[in-house]
Amino acid sequence: MIKFQGNHILSVSQFDRESIAKILDVAAQMMPYASRQKRCHVLDGAILNNLFFEPSTRTRVSFGCAFNLLGGFVRETVGEENSSLSKGESLYDTAQVISGYSDIIAMRHPQMHSVAKFAEGSTVPVINGGDGANEHPTQALLDLFTIRSEMSRFEKGIDNLDVVLMGDLKHGRTVHSLSKLLSLYNNVKVTMVAPDALQMPDNVISTLENAGHKVVLTDKIAGNLACDVIYQTRIQQERFASKEEANLYRGHFSLNKQVYEQYCKDHTVIMHPLPRDSRPEANELDVDLNDLDNLAIFRQAQNGVLVRMALFALALGVEDKLTDYEKPITWATNK
Ligand code: NCD
Repeated sequence: MIKFQGNHILSVSQFDRESIAKILDVAAQMMPYASRQKRCHVLDGAILNNLFFEPSTRTRVSFGCAFNLLGGFVRETVGEENSSLSKGESLYDTAQVISGYSDIIAMRHPQMHSVAKFAEGSTVPVINGGDGANEHPTQALLDLFTIRSEMSRFEKGIDNLDVVLMGDLKHGRTVHSLSKLLSLYNNVKVTMVAPDALQMPDNVISTLENAGHKVVLTDKIAGNLACDVIYQTRIQQERFASKEEANLYRGHFSLNKQVYEQYCKDHTVIMHPLPRDSRPEANELDVDLNDLDNLAIFRQAQNGVLVRMALFALALGVEDKLTDYEKPITWATNK
């Protein structure tokens, strides 16, 4: 098992199965707090600095809420234009300064490996909230948490999983990190449905293959969706040279009720890291799937709070003290 306390979380390559099991177990212990049955103030007085230099809704807000739910304070910087990075300050200098003000930092940045570079200058743990097209480790952990909980309804687990990854697999950092995590489990089949130009990077494919898993690469939906989990992704327009180039691929792999009923199994669970691009020209995950029990996308987003609470507790060494710092809920809550 890796040492969590005081350490950065930069890549899923840091983890072994035992460490992942620990994170997911601590995440499950966060349920009473996230569902407002009790409060936990184990991080009372601690400060998270949330630095988001790329657009984000779920990751940024759930990092903040996760820290608040453990009793900590959150400071936020959003957009490079609102930071001295835009005046030419280096990531190292920014890290030296911000880490002096914080107990922990979560950061998203458009350049690959930038968060690791920032972490070199930080005196406190740094959690990668997405570094360009490279990785998104906390998303992969919440995806795994979601797969485990969704599959338990069908008496299945992560071992022997049959999963389809679909869409922009070249630029989608969530599918890079998720594939690397899946490679740690047993006998996983991964079907990658994408246009040739947007297929999964070779290094990710070989991580799965070298671990003995079956990988199928295809550019066709028909006949390829009869699986346990479909993980749909957005065309990552911001990583293309132009909007016109991204437009070439939009709308090719739309999933709607008709496609689901024709090609999926009764139990196939639909996941998506969100945001889904609901503009008509993309419509990658149709709203006609909204009433399907197996559409897990909003449960998946909720799980992000649990997993991020767990990572904060582990990085700050309080995972065994949660129940010593509980309080009752004093407001009317409908959760
Ligand atoms: C993803 C991201 O930013 O990598 N979303 C997320 O963090 N939940 C996927 C995306 O933007 O398409």
